[in-house]
Amino acid sequence: MTNKELCELAKISAQRSYSPYSTFRVGAALLCSDGSVYTGCNIENASFTPTVCAERVAFFKAISEGKKDFVSIAIVGGREEIGKNLCSPCGVCLQVMTEFCNPKTFKIILPSNDKTEEYLLCDLLPHSFSL
Ligand code: THU
Repeated sequence: MTNKELCELAKISAQRSYSPYSTFRVGAALLCSDGSVYTGCNIENASFTPTVCAERVAFFKAISEGKKDFVSIAIVGGREEIGKNLCSPCGVCLQVMTEFCNPKTFKIILPSNDKTEEYLLCDLLPHSFSL
């Protein structure tokens, strides 16, 4: 699975986004160490707070299927054109990633029309919460 293929899967997932309130569609594709991929899209709610981000949908699908080792996640988002601009994950999703991934090796792939940026989880959330 190349980064490009993972980004394509994230884009397909964004098309399934349920986002009538923000009209902002997000898609994520999570690559597991066994080569399997779990996708997610953002799912909104009229009551707003039950809204779930695309990244967490992908993670929770994978965790609930017994996956434990994660390599990378590709994330795309946008209104009219998905993937035109870079779509960085929110702090809550970064904290969830930190729960299940090694922050020094897990990669976050952010494609846009201009370029694809790649970060380590520890770059985007250097001071995660821990008990
Ligand atoms: N959203 C995500 O899916 N992922 C993020 O990392 C940030 C935001 C969604 C939530 C909401 O449905 C919409 O984008 C606007 O905030």
